[in-house]
Amino acid sequence: MTTTTETPVGDDRLRLLENLMADTRLDAETARRPLSPVPAHLLPAPDEGPLTALPAPASPRVELDDALFARTSVREYATTPLTGAELSALLAAADRMDARGWPGERAAGLDLEFYLAAWRVTGVDTGLYRYLPGESALRRVADIPDGPEAEELVMQREFARSAAVLVITGNLAGALTRHGSHGHRLLLTRAGAAGHAAWLTAVRLRLVGTVFAGLLPHVLRERAGADGYHRAALFAFAAGHPAPESTA
Ligand SMILES: Cc1cc2nc3c(=O)[nH]c(=O)nc-3n(C[C@H](O)[C@H](O)[C@H](O)COP(=O)(O)O)c2cc1C
Repeated sequence: MTTTTETPVGDDRLRLLENLMADTRLDAETARRPLSPVPAHLLPAPDEGPLTALPAPASPRVELDDALFARTSVREYATTPLTGAELSALLAAADRMDARGWPGERAAGLDLEFYLAAWRVTGVDTGLYRYLPGESALRRVADIPDGPEAEELVMQREFARSAAVLVITGNLAGALTRHGSHGHRLLLTRAGAAGHAAWLTAVRLRLVGTVFAGLLPHVLRERAGADGYHRAALFAFAAGHPAPESTA
């Protein structure tokens, strides 16, 4: 059997307790200090940018069978701009692929997002945009450099010479919560399907390009709040007209 004996609180212990309480008060006081601002790159992407309406998607000019045989990676581009209708077709194809393939994920709030770095698209100023599929429009998110300075945005400089780069992002945090580690694989599969849908659509419009995953994380983090977890860049597609030497 155990007995508890009460130890009388001596002066030393009292002083120790008082000091501890003083520390606690100090801690509470410091907690009231002015809060640090959250850096812009950890905030959600701005959603107030001006909208650019897109025309109806351009119709394919090449049969799918022929496009499948013609599809090959092209990394050199002419300076000819894409039309708004061509761009609209690429974006709509990427979104449609995901909507048809993974409706359950989207119903759960886990949409893919489509960002566009546009350099040469008729009717679309140079800039970074988020595609709004429901409105068939682009929301301007940030400025981006043009010309040689655009090469800072990409790991391979040739992609900065494309007419536009589509970057597909997904909510990794949400996908992992919903599916466990399978969520990451699922996001990559969805982004791959959407990127290739955009690519085949480009080929059917006699455009060229390549899919790629070599993205610089800081570029979208600083401009679109892509923290790599709640919004993670997954895959990309660079599009343009073929450079004269690659048309032969
Ligand atoms: C997941 C993935 C990542 C890729 N990353 C890059 C890349 O960072 N840079 C690049 O030039 N191409 C990249 N590619 C494109 C491939 O190198 C290759 O060009 C493409 O798969 C098509 O090959 P093909 O033209 O021989 O059919 C990537 C492709 C895939 C599927």
